[in-house]
Amino acid sequence: MGKVYVFDHPLIQHKLTYIREKSTGTKEFRELVDEVATLMAFEITRDLPLEEVDVETPVCMARSKVLSGKKLGIIPILRAGLGMVDGILKLIPAAKVGHVGLYRDPETLKPIEYYIKLPSDVEERDFIVVDPMLATGGSAIEAINSLKKRGAKSIKFMCLIAAPEGVEEFQKEHPEIDLYIAALDEKLNEKGYIVPGLGDAGDRMFGTK
Ligand code: PRP
Ligand code: URA
Repeated sequence: MGKVYVFDHPLIQHKLTYIREKSTGTKEFRELVDEVATLMAFEITRDLPLEEVDVETPVCMARSKVLSGKKLGIIPILRAGLGMVDGILKLIPAAKVGHVGLYRDPETLKPIEYYIKLPSDVEERDFIVVDPMLATGGSAIEAINSLKKRGAKSIKFMCLIAAPEGVEEFQKEHPEIDLYIAALDEKLNEKGYIVPGLGDAGDRMFGTK
């Protein structure tokens, strides 16, 4: 079974509080999500493989380490996932970025896919799928189904806030995939919003309603 990692770093938790706060405006919300995405990217890349190489310092030759292994791909789920991309690219600027466009039907809460564009070498990359919210889990599950259908073999999912109901569904559908989250909240309400959550992530990120 895939693991659920909750990033309890004090900086992530502090910034998440202000992301949740309803009086936080669009500009600050975006900046905070960007900063938290960078901090989470630092944690999620902890297990990247390294190899030794020769390096000539001003003093002498030395053995030192560089990243090895597969190249990375970041897949934001549109719209709100877009707000996490730049923060991750600050640490792994060479990563390619694919996009999966999904929205939840407000009545059924089922995800509807409207766009997909992935790097051409899907089978060769390690992917991090990002979205601030894992609520019912439908969007994350569907995005990862789309990636798998196109040949992706290695996938992690990263979000800011998850609901227990969404985590359970996600693990049923994708039991081998690890989840990286900043907070596991209490529950979903009758409208499918995470409680306490942060409200509608896309609307808060882009100032729409
Ligand atoms: C939000 C959020 C997730 C999804 C989570 O997107 O950004 O993608 O809901 O809910 P789920 O786990 O129940 O599927 P939304 O559908 O509001 O689209 P948007 O990002 O375009 O606003
Ligand atoms: N999507 C959001 O943006 N917020 C929620 O609480 C649930 C789904």
